[in-house]
Order: sequence, then C-alpha cells, then structure tokens
Amino acid sequence: MSAGCPETVLAQNLITFADLPGPPSLPLVGNKLALARAGGPNHAFQQWCDRYGPTYRLRLPAPTVVTADPLLVDQVLKQRPETFRRSPRVTSTLQGLGIHGVFTAEASEWHRLRRVATRSLNAAHLNTYFDTMTRTAERVRRRWHDAAATGERIDVLDEMMRYTLDVTVGLAVGHDLNAVENRDGGLPARLPELFPEIGRRLYAPLPYWKFLNGARRRRLAETMSELDALVAEQFQVAKARVAGGASPANFLEALAAPVDGEPELSHAELVGNVLTMLLAGEDTTSATAAWTLHYLANDPQMLRRVRAEAQTVLGDRPFAGDPGTLRKLELAGAAVREAVRMRPVAPYLAMQALHDVVLTGQDGPLRIDSGTIVFVLLSRGARHDTDRFGEPDEFRPQRWLGADPEATGGTAPFLPFGGGPRFCPGRNLAIVETTLVTSMLCREFDLEPDTTTGSVGERTAFSVFPTNLFVRARLPQPANPE
Ligand code: HEM
Repeated sequence: MSAGCPETVLAQNLITFADLPGPPSLPLVGNKLALARAGGPNHAFQQWCDRYGPTYRLRLPAPTVVTADPLLVDQVLKQRPETFRRSPRVTSTLQGLGIHGVFTAEASEWHRLRRVATRSLNAAHLNTYFDTMTRTAERVRRRWHDAAATGERIDVLDEMMRYTLDVTVGLAVGHDLNAVENRDGGLPARLPELFPEIGRRLYAPLPYWKFLNGARRRRLAETMSELDALVAEQFQVAKARVAGGASPANFLEALAAPVDGEPELSHAELVGNVLTMLLAGEDTTSATAAWTLHYLANDPQMLRRVRAEAQTVLGDRPFAGDPGTLRKLELAGAAVREAVRMRPVAPYLAMQALHDVVLTGQDGPLRIDSGTIVFVLLSRGARHDTDRFGEPDEFRPQRWLGADPEATGGTAPFLPFGGGPRFCPGRNLAIVETTLVTSMLCREFDLEPDTTTGSVGERTAFSVFPTNLFVRARLPQPANPE
C-alpha cells in the first residue's frame, strides 16, 4: 500500500474521520468550550487520550484529528511541507503580529528561509554565540548575587526570559539589549509583552484585538516600531560586514549574505524573520530554563551534585567558557534534558492536510481529508512510555547520563523538538544556553522554593510556561559530608 494514495487502499479497511472515537460535541462550537474548560489545550488533549486512545476526533469546530500514535506522528511530521502545513490559525495569529518567518513559511519560501536558519544555527555559529551567552550569564550571576544579598524573592521565569532574550537578540541581530540589567522600560521591557499576546489571540473565542484600540494595542505598536528601527539599523551594519568579507556571525548577517539568483528580503520580511527567531528561541528556552530551576530547587541534593560537578570541571570559574568545557557538565545537561521531558514546553503541534492522504497508523490505514486539522502530541511518551522512562513522574536526571537523547521508537512519541524536515534548528543552542545558566546558578546558590503566593502552575501561550514560580537564592553553606 502506498501512503498518500487513497485509491490503493481497500475501502473496508480504511478508518475515516467518522469512525474515530471522540468526546461529544455541541452544535456550532463543537468541542471548543470543553477545550477551554479543561485547564488548557495540553491537559484536554492528554485527558482525551486517556479516555479515547491515541487517535481521536474533535470539532473545533472544523474537523480535527488528534494523535499520539507514534506511526502517525512520524508520517505527519515527515510529510511536510508537501502534504501538511502549519495550521492556518497559528500562522495567521503570528502574521497578524508581524511575525512571519521560517516557522510560518510554507513551500518554496520555507525551503529558502530554512536554509538560512539552519546555516545561522549550526555548530560553527554556536561557538560565535558563546561569547554572548557568557557575557549574559555573568550579568545574571551578578543580579542573583544582589538578590541573594537582600533576600529578594526571585521571579524565575522573568529572570530567565531576560537571559534568553539577550542571548537571542544577540544572535538574531547582533545587538546587546541587556534586558538582564536594564529594568527601566524601552524594548527590553516591551518585547516580552509581545509573546503572551500570541497565546491570548490563539485561544480567544473572538478576534477581540480587531475591535479594541486600548493601551495594550498602542504599546504593541510602539514595540513594533522600535523593533523596526533596530532591525533597519542592524541590517545596515550586517550588510557592511558581509560586504567586507566577514562570514555571517548572526541571523541578520546570514540573511544579508547574497544567495545566487534570490532576491533580497524586504524590510517587512527581515523584521518578520527576526521576530520569528526571537519567538522560537526566547519563549521556549526561558520556559525550559525556568522549569529546570524549579525541579532543582525542589531537589536540593541533586542541586548540590550539579554544583559539585561544576566545581570539579570549572575550578574557580563560574561557568564554562567554551562549548567543549560545557559538554563536560554532563549532570547539568542531564538535568536540562530531564526538565524537557517532565515539562515539554511545546507538547503538541497543529497542522493542516493540504490534500487527501492515507496514513498508516497502529490500528491500520487512516484517511485524512484535505483541510483537516491534525494535532500531533509530540511528548505523550514522556510520561506514558514506561519502558523508556521508568518512574516517569520522578525528576531523575541520571536517566540521561550516557543515554542517547535522540533515541527514537517506543510506544508513544517523545519528540520535544519536533521531527522531520521542520525539526527545531535551535535545539543545540537551547540545550547549551540552558545548561550554561543552570550549572552557574547551582554552583553559586542554594535555591529555596518560595510559595508564599501559591504553588507553581502552568499556562499555555506559544509555549507551556510556569506560573507563580519564585525562589530565594542563598549563598551555599559549607557542604555537609554526604
Ligand atoms: C527548549 C527550547 C526549544 C524547544 C522545546 C523548541 C521546540 C520546537 C518545536 C517543537 C518546533 C516545531 C518543530 C516541527 O515543526 O517539527 C520548533 C521549531 C523551530 N524552532 Fe525551536 N525550540 C526550542 C528552542 C529554539 C531556539 C533556541 C531557536 C533559535 C534561536 C529555535 C528556533 C526554531 C525555529 C526557527 C523553528 C521553525 C522551524 C521550521 O519551521 O522549519 N528553537 N522548535
């Protein structure tokens, strides 16, 4: 049988949308209200998976298939961009905010932008970005020492957003934003406000933003115009450097490098691509770093082991100064991977079938009609594939020591960075960035969870991020012999 060719499949074997199980739906709204009530889409998808099995149907109100069947997930991810595209809802929401780049591009535009993104995020460039990362990590270190001295309650997500924003703006446009130290407004304060707006718009029942002209909209417009000016200025710098023979050292320079026969990007395209990098690189990585610190703050023994490793590998230095040394911080890296498993920040992807297609799932051939929305649950395996991850609800970084993080297979997917040709090109950068800051903070501080305003929760916007995550940092007491 050939997948993608419905005629070749015997009609009686074919599973269709109507054959799939799924929760009852209401007229007009379908399952939209139930999705909103379940405490966010991720919770709803997982609960329905428990009840209806790995593949089920919804109406949102458009016909929608949700799947955690590893065979189906693999085929959907691999058959891009020809057979599946990103969901139009995601694309139009991002484009409505001026965020159009490699994440939302399709067909030939995607091929071109993907080449640039991959080029600017490859291993050679990671070395170039290391200076930006260590400079930023040093600022974080000073800032947390000040907070430790005064006993300040630290908003972990906010601090990690500032760190990843500085690193990502550095690699995207070669500009030192310094959001870690600059707390007096301007772009460092306003840029992070752009990303939560995506979540509000993605899950809003009505496009309220088209009718309101309030303060939030004005601030967004100001942010965009400031960003426009920054990109225009930095693009001139990038062009001059590339014309002078320098090899591209940031994303804008990669975009400025001439490619035979391809037209130069317009200003709007440049801004859209830079914003895409900021969104894809900042939001996801800051949430991952915050979750990592959350688990380590709640596991003081593991935190001390990460500290001991840093002391052994780094001696008196607060953090690794180059990628080779960072790779030796195996336990810190394992803690990051374990946090990615416990709290995958992009647990599902929304796609749309571009034409009728037949996929082969665990239960047999499944027909997906053109236009159907398909949600793939990327990380169902993290908590449900107990052959791969024993005691899945336990934070156990040791499980990653010596293990191949890219190992595939299993009874449910674990693909926190996606898969197929659109696999996350920033994966290595994200792991390096998070490991660097995690190891440094564990080396320098004891972290005490602060739940005076309630326990830690989670919310879904572009990524799934922690809410109400606070700690107090203290200088470590001399270690007890253990
Ligand atoms: C822990 C951090 C991160 C996670 C969990 C994550 C996860 C993902 C996922 C699930 C996708 C979708 C992949 C697919 O469609 O198959 C994606 C795409 C993407 N990511 Fe990441 N990501 C992270 C960090 C980064 C960083 C640091 C960058 C770059 C600065 C980045 C750049 C991108 C881009 C450009 C895409 C779009 C790729 C395309 O459509 O071809 N990501 N990421």
